[in-house]
Amino acid sequence: MKSFEISAAYIKEKLGSLMPRFAIVLGSGLADLGDQIANPIVIDYQDIPEFPVSTVSGHSGRLIAGTLGKVPVICMQGRFHFYEGHSFDKIAIPVRTFKALGCEAMILTNASGSLNPNMKPGSIMLIEDHINFSGTNPLIGANDDSIGPRFVDMTQTYDAEINQALKSAAATISLPLFEGNYIWLTGPTFETPAEIRAYRTLGADAVGMSTVPEAIFARHCDLKVVGLSTITNLAAGLQGENLSHDETLEQGALAAVNLTKLLETFLEAQA
Ligand code: HPA
Repeated sequence: MKSFEISAAYIKEKLGSLMPRFAIVLGSGLADLGDQIANPIVIDYQDIPEFPVSTVSGHSGRLIAGTLGKVPVICMQGRFHFYEGHSFDKIAIPVRTFKALGCEAMILTNASGSLNPNMKPGSIMLIEDHINFSGTNPLIGANDDSIGPRFVDMTQTYDAEINQALKSAAATISLPLFEGNYIWLTGPTFETPAEIRAYRTLGADAVGMSTVPEAIFARHCDLKVVGLSTITNLAAGLQGENLSHDETLEQGALAAVNLTKLLETFLEAQA
């Protein structure tokens, strides 16, 4: 059995009759959303065979399955970043596990910096498309044809139908929802002001260190994916102060309240 099949078999047994329809990946400062899940079944990453274990502060590292907005979901409280030193093979495991569990789609959330001065900290941006500016690709290496094709179509990475449903949900609760392009850099350094000026000319609206690898792995195994960025700060050079991880966690917590409402409203409409 492949690693993700071993992880999926373990999780499936723990879930019993619960069949999660959506997998939700929580970014920095967004962990509280997991605590809104009703009748939770909690599984620590460290107990799941073959599953990676996260190292960054603010990420606790557990799966929470249950219902949100009356829909069965499975939530990752804590995700895996390339800058932590995880291999892409490890980062792929949760995504492929969700596919193996029969999830319809994966909802990726993250904390990111804004390149648009009008999109202020605390805003939420629906990811329309991304720019992989990491200089690498998570699928480099031998391809496993039983998982997905060698060359993956990325014309419509983020699912148009689910995006529409998210926009409707935002309208229902009168939540302003920005839309834009997310640019992925590996980190762990934040960007320089010169880099941010360059990325603005490339058409990036939000910048961050996650999400794109998972989105690529999802499209590779034909799992639908959408992405939501919570804006924690204006990107380097767009505001006077220096960037800190603490600020990321604070603004993320603020936006998390709105993001929870948005996802609950979206899921209620899917029930
Ligand atoms: N840059 C990169 N990643 C981030 C930022 C940023 O400004 N804010 C939160 N995550």
